[in-house]
Amino acid sequence: MELPFAEPYKIKMVEAIHTSTREEREAWIKAAHYNLFNLRSDQVYIDLLTDSGTGAMSDRQWAAIMTGDESYAGSSSYFNLKEAIRELFGFEYFLPTHQGRAAENVLFSVLVSAGDLIPGNSHFDTTKGHIEFRKATAVDCTICEAFDTECSHPFKGNVDIDKLRQVLEDAPAGKVPFVILTLTCNSSGGQPVSMQNIREVKAVTDHFKVPLIFDSARFAENAYFIWLREAGYRNKTIPEIVREMYSYADGMTMSSKKDGIVNIGGFIATRRKDWYDQASGFNIMFEGFVTYGGMAGRDMNALAIGLREAMEINYLTSRIGQVHYLGEQLSDAHIPVQKPFGGHAIFVEASKFLPHVPKEEFIAQTLCIELYLEAGIRAVEVGTLLADRDPLTRENRYPKLEFMRLTIPRRVYTRLHMDVIATALKNVFDRRDEIKTGLRIIEEAPIMRHFTVKLDRVQP
Ligand code: F0G
Repeated sequence: MELPFAEPYKIKMVEAIHTSTREEREAWIKAAHYNLFNLRSDQVYIDLLTDSGTGAMSDRQWAAIMTGDESYAGSSSYFNLKEAIRELFGFEYFLPTHQGRAAENVLFSVLVSAGDLIPGNSHFDTTKGHIEFRKATAVDCTICEAFDTECSHPFKGNVDIDKLRQVLEDAPAGKVPFVILTLTCNSSGGQPVSMQNIREVKAVTDHFKVPLIFDSARFAENAYFIWLREAGYRNKTIPEIVREMYSYADGMTMSSKKDGIVNIGGFIATRRKDWYDQASGFNIMFEGFVTYGGMAGRDMNALAIGLREAMEINYLTSRIGQVHYLGEQLSDAHIPVQKPFGGHAIFVEASKFLPHVPKEEFIAQTLCIELYLEAGIRAVEVGTLLADRDPLTRENRYPKLEFMRLTIPRRVYTRLHMDVIATALKNVFDRRDEIKTGLRIIEEAPIMRHFTVKLDRVQP
C-alpha cells in the first residue's frame, strides 16, 4: 500500500489553546460588538482570522533569531536577507519595512499621485486603501470566472488581458504608474495567477511602457499551483518557478508575515535603482533606516530562512494539502465554497449558505458570528464590511462575492483541528434555515472600517 503523505516536521514546542461554553461566547461576542477583531485570543478555540504573522517558525529560524545583529546601520542580518532576496527573486535593491502595507505606503509614496489608475487582479484591501488614500483608483481586471465559485478554472487569480489592454488604452497619458498583480490573489479566494497570464500581462505592460509590480505575500503558494496545474512546470523546482515569475516584474511589495513564515516584517525589492533611491527617503521617514526599516535584525535573519523554507516542496504539499483536506470535507457536505480551493484559506460563499439574510445585514459577518458561537472558531469576513463604502458616494459597496474566510495559519494546526472546523460548520449549515436576520452597524471608521466597526444584531 502506498504510504499516506504527512506533515514534513514534528512538534518541539506546544502552546495551549482554550475551550469555552456557548454561554461564555454569547457574552463575549456581544461585549465585542459582534466584531471578531475585538475578541481576546483566549476567547478563541481555533483561530482562522488570518494566516498573517500567525505561522510557526522552525527550529532553524529560532536558532537564527539568536544570531541576529541589532546594529542600527549595516547589520549582518540585513545582508543575509538582501542576499536571500537577490538569490530567490533576482532583485538587486531591497528595503525592509515593518509589514506589507508599510511596503505599499513607502513605494506608493513614490509612484502614486491623485487621479492615477492602478489596474490589477482584485487588489488586497490595504493595497486599495493606500491607492484610494492618495485619491487614485484601483481598477479590478480579474477574469470573470473568479466570481463564479462553482467554475473550476485552475487560475482564478488571472487578469483579463483584454480588459487590462482596454484600461491602458483609455487611460490619459501618464496616469497609470504601474500594474500590480497579487500572487496569490487573496480577495478572489487565495487563487493563483498562471505563468502564462503573468507573461501576457508583461507583454501588455511592455507595450504600454508601464512597470509591473507583484504583491507577493503568498508567492510560494502561487508557484506551487503553477507547478501543480500548469503544463510544462512539473519538472521545474519551486525556486526555478519563482525566479521565472519575478523575471517579469520590475519590483515587489512583500508581507513577510505570510510566505516569509515570520511573525512580523515586510519589504520592497526592485531592479529599479531610481525607485530604490526615491523610496529610501520615505523608508527613513516612515519605517527606519534603510538597513532595518522597522525590523529587528533577528527577524530579518529568521525571514531569510523562512523565505527558503516556504519554497520547499514537501512543506508546500503539506500546507496546501491541509487546506484542501478542509475544503473537501466542506464540499462533500454541500457547503458552498470557492473552487478550486485556494492556497491559504477556504472561502465559504456566505450568500448561498445563509440565503435568508438580506445583503444589507452583512451576511458573511453573520455567518462568522454563528461559527464562533457554535465552536469558538474565529473566521473572518471578506464581504460587504471589508468592501467598505465608495469613497465618493459613501454608499456601501456590495462585492461580487460575499465570503467567510477560514484562513489556515502555517504549520500551526493539525488535521484533527480541520475535522473540528468542518463539523462545526456542518452543524451551522444544518440549522441555516433558522438564521433569518443579520447585523447592523452602530459605529464605523471612515476608512478600513471592518477592523473597528461596532455592530448589533437585527431583531427578527
Ligand atoms: N497583500 C496581500 C495580498 C495581503 O493578503 C496582505 C495582508 C497585505 C498585502 C498586507 O500585508 O498585513 O503585512 O500589512 N493580508 C492579511 C490577511 C492581513 O489577513 O489576509 P500586511
